[in-house]
Amino acid sequence: MATTSSPRKVDEVRQEANRLNSAARSANQLMEALTVLLNAKMLKYNWVGFYMMEAGADPPMLVLGKYQGAMTPHTRIPLNQGICGAAASSGKTVVVDDVKKDPRYLACSLETKSEIVVPVFVRGKVVGELDIDSHFAAAFADEDRELVEYCAQLVGKRLEGA
Ligand code: SME
Repeated sequence: MATTSSPRKVDEVRQEANRLNSAARSANQLMEALTVLLNAKMLKYNWVGFYMMEAGADPPMLVLGKYQGAMTPHTRIPLNQGICGAAASSGKTVVVDDVKKDPRYLACSLETKSEIVVPVFVRGKVVGELDIDSHFAAAFADEDRELVEYCAQLVGKRLEGA
Protein backbone atom coordinates (compact mmCIF):
# COMPACT_ATOMS: atom_id res chain seq x y z
CA MET A 1 0.00 0.00 0.00
CA ALA A 2 1.22 3.49 -0.82
CA THR A 3 2.48 5.60 2.06
CA THR A 4 0.82 9.01 2.27
CA SER A 5 1.99 12.61 2.52
CA SER A 6 -0.17 14.67 4.88
CA PRO A 7 -2.99 16.50 3.04
CA ARG A 8 -2.10 19.72 4.87
CA LYS A 9 1.49 19.55 3.67
CA VAL A 10 0.36 18.84 0.11
CA ASP A 11 -1.98 21.85 0.26
CA GLU A 12 0.78 24.12 1.61
CA VAL A 13 3.12 23.04 -1.16
CA ARG A 14 0.44 23.57 -3.80
CA GLN A 15 -0.09 27.14 -2.54
CA GLU A 16 3.64 27.77 -2.55
CA ALA A 17 3.77 26.45 -6.14
CA ASN A 18 1.11 29.06 -7.06
CA ARG A 19 3.20 31.82 -5.46
CA LEU A 20 6.30 30.65 -7.33
CA ASN A 21 4.33 30.64 -10.57
CA SER A 22 3.32 34.27 -10.04
CA ALA A 23 6.89 35.27 -9.19
CA ALA A 24 8.66 33.38 -12.01
CA ARG A 25 9.57 35.43 -15.05
CA SER A 26 9.84 32.45 -17.41
CA ALA A 27 8.88 28.79 -17.70
CA ASN A 28 12.52 27.90 -17.05
CA GLN A 29 12.57 29.85 -13.81
CA LEU A 30 9.31 28.21 -12.78
CA MET A 31 10.70 24.72 -13.49
CA GLU A 32 13.79 25.44 -11.43
CA ALA A 33 11.74 26.86 -8.54
CA LEU A 34 9.37 23.88 -8.55
CA THR A 35 12.22 21.35 -8.42
CA VAL A 36 13.69 23.20 -5.42
CA LEU A 37 10.29 23.42 -3.68
CA LEU A 38 9.31 19.77 -4.17
CA ASN A 39 12.75 18.46 -3.21
CA ALA A 40 12.95 20.64 -0.09
CA LYS A 41 9.38 20.37 1.22
CA MET A 42 8.31 16.84 0.28
CA LEU A 43 10.63 14.69 2.34
CA LYS A 44 10.32 11.58 0.20
CA TYR A 45 10.96 13.40 -3.09
CA ASN A 46 14.69 12.72 -3.21
CA TRP A 47 15.34 13.49 -6.89
CA VAL A 48 13.13 15.96 -8.73
CA GLY A 49 13.71 16.96 -12.33
CA PHE A 50 12.27 17.90 -15.69
CA TYR A 51 12.99 16.14 -18.95
CA MET A 52 11.97 18.10 -22.04
CA MET A 53 11.40 16.91 -25.60
CA GLU A 54 14.27 17.94 -27.84
CA ALA A 55 13.02 20.31 -30.54
CA GLY A 56 13.03 18.71 -33.98
CA ALA A 57 14.74 15.48 -32.84
CA ASP A 58 14.12 12.38 -34.95
CA PRO A 59 13.71 9.94 -33.29
CA PRO A 60 12.15 11.94 -30.43
CA MET A 61 14.37 12.41 -27.39
CA LEU A 62 13.90 13.54 -23.78
CA VAL A 63 16.67 15.80 -22.54
CA LEU A 64 17.41 16.48 -18.87
CA GLY A 65 16.50 20.00 -17.79
CA LYS A 66 16.33 21.59 -14.33
CA TYR A 67 16.76 19.13 -11.49
CA GLN A 68 17.59 18.75 -7.80
CA GLY A 69 19.35 15.69 -6.41
CA ALA A 70 22.24 13.46 -7.38
CA MET A 71 23.75 13.64 -10.85
CA THR A 72 22.11 11.15 -13.22
CA PRO A 73 23.74 9.24 -16.07
CA HIS A 74 20.44 9.55 -17.97
CA THR A 75 20.69 12.98 -19.54
CA ARG A 76 19.07 11.87 -22.83
CA ILE A 77 16.30 9.26 -22.93
CA PRO A 78 14.65 7.97 -26.13
CA LEU A 79 10.88 7.53 -25.95
CA ASN A 80 11.12 3.74 -26.09
CA GLN A 81 13.25 3.56 -22.93
CA GLY A 82 12.68 3.88 -19.20
CA ILE A 83 9.73 4.93 -17.09
CA CYS A 84 10.40 8.38 -18.53
CA GLY A 85 9.97 7.16 -22.10
CA ALA A 86 6.78 5.30 -21.12
CA ALA A 87 5.18 8.43 -19.62
CA ALA A 88 6.14 10.64 -22.57
CA SER A 89 5.05 8.17 -25.26
CA SER A 90 1.73 7.31 -23.59
CA GLY A 91 0.94 10.84 -22.38
CA LYS A 92 -0.04 9.31 -19.03
CA THR A 93 1.29 9.61 -15.49
CA VAL A 94 3.31 6.52 -14.52
CA VAL A 95 3.67 5.56 -10.84
CA VAL A 96 6.04 2.72 -9.97
CA ASP A 97 5.87 1.54 -6.34
CA ASP A 98 8.88 -0.78 -6.62
CA VAL A 99 11.34 0.07 -9.38
CA LYS A 100 13.11 -3.31 -8.98
CA LYS A 101 9.99 -5.02 -10.30
CA ASP A 102 9.59 -2.81 -13.39
CA PRO A 103 11.68 -3.98 -16.36
CA ARG A 104 11.35 -0.53 -17.99
CA TYR A 105 13.23 1.16 -15.14
CA LEU A 106 16.54 2.89 -15.94
CA ALA A 107 18.57 3.10 -12.73
CA CYS A 108 19.67 6.54 -11.67
CA SER A 109 20.64 5.97 -8.03
CA LEU A 110 20.95 2.67 -6.17
CA GLU A 111 18.88 4.22 -3.38
CA THR A 112 15.81 4.80 -5.55
CA LYS A 113 12.87 2.56 -4.64
CA SER A 114 9.86 4.23 -6.25
CA GLU A 115 9.21 6.78 -8.99
CA ILE A 116 6.51 8.99 -10.52
CA VAL A 117 6.67 10.56 -13.97
CA VAL A 118 4.03 13.09 -15.07
CA PRO A 119 3.84 14.43 -18.64
CA VAL A 120 3.81 18.18 -19.31
CA PHE A 121 1.37 19.17 -22.08
CA VAL A 122 1.21 22.21 -24.31
CA ARG A 123 -2.05 22.39 -26.28
CA GLY A 124 -2.58 18.65 -25.80
CA LYS A 125 0.90 17.65 -26.92
CA VAL A 126 3.58 16.16 -24.62
CA VAL A 127 6.49 18.61 -24.47
CA GLY A 128 8.27 17.16 -21.45
CA GLU A 129 7.72 15.61 -18.05
CA LEU A 130 8.28 16.00 -14.33
CA ASP A 131 10.15 13.00 -12.89
CA ILE A 132 10.49 12.28 -9.15
CA ASP A 133 12.44 9.46 -7.50
CA SER A 134 12.12 8.39 -3.88
CA HIS A 135 14.39 6.43 -1.56
CA PHE A 136 11.17 4.99 -0.10
CA ALA A 137 9.04 2.25 -1.62
CA ALA A 138 5.54 3.29 -2.74
CA ALA A 139 6.16 6.94 -1.86
CA PHE A 140 3.60 8.32 -4.32
CA ALA A 141 -0.04 8.04 -3.22
CA ASP A 142 -3.03 9.71 -4.88
CA GLU A 143 -2.43 13.06 -3.17
CA ASP A 144 1.20 13.05 -4.36
CA ARG A 145 0.08 12.27 -7.87
CA GLU A 146 -2.38 15.18 -7.75
CA LEU A 147 0.31 17.53 -6.47
CA VAL A 148 2.87 16.52 -9.09
CA GLU A 149 0.25 16.68 -11.87
CA TYR A 150 -0.71 20.16 -10.64
CA CYS A 151 2.92 21.33 -10.83
CA ALA A 152 3.30 19.83 -14.32
CA GLN A 153 0.13 21.68 -15.40
CA LEU A 154 1.48 25.00 -14.11
CA VAL A 155 4.55 24.50 -16.32
CA GLY A 156 2.45 23.46 -19.33
CA LYS A 157 0.25 26.57 -19.02
CA ARG A 158 3.33 28.74 -18.66
CA LEU A 159 4.89 27.21 -21.78
CA GLU A 160 1.60 27.69 -23.64
CA GLY A 161 1.81 31.40 -22.92
CA ALA A 162 5.45 31.57 -24.02
N1 SME B 1 14.42 6.20 -13.79
C1 SME B 1 14.17 6.91 -15.02
C2 SME B 1 15.44 7.52 -15.56
C3 SME B 1 15.71 8.89 -15.07
S1 SME B 1 16.37 8.95 -13.51
O1 SME B 1 15.35 8.44 -12.59
C4 SME B 1 16.67 10.51 -13.05
C5 SME B 1 13.53 5.97 -16.03
O2 SME B 1 13.40 4.78 -15.77
O3 SME B 1 13.17 6.43 -17.11
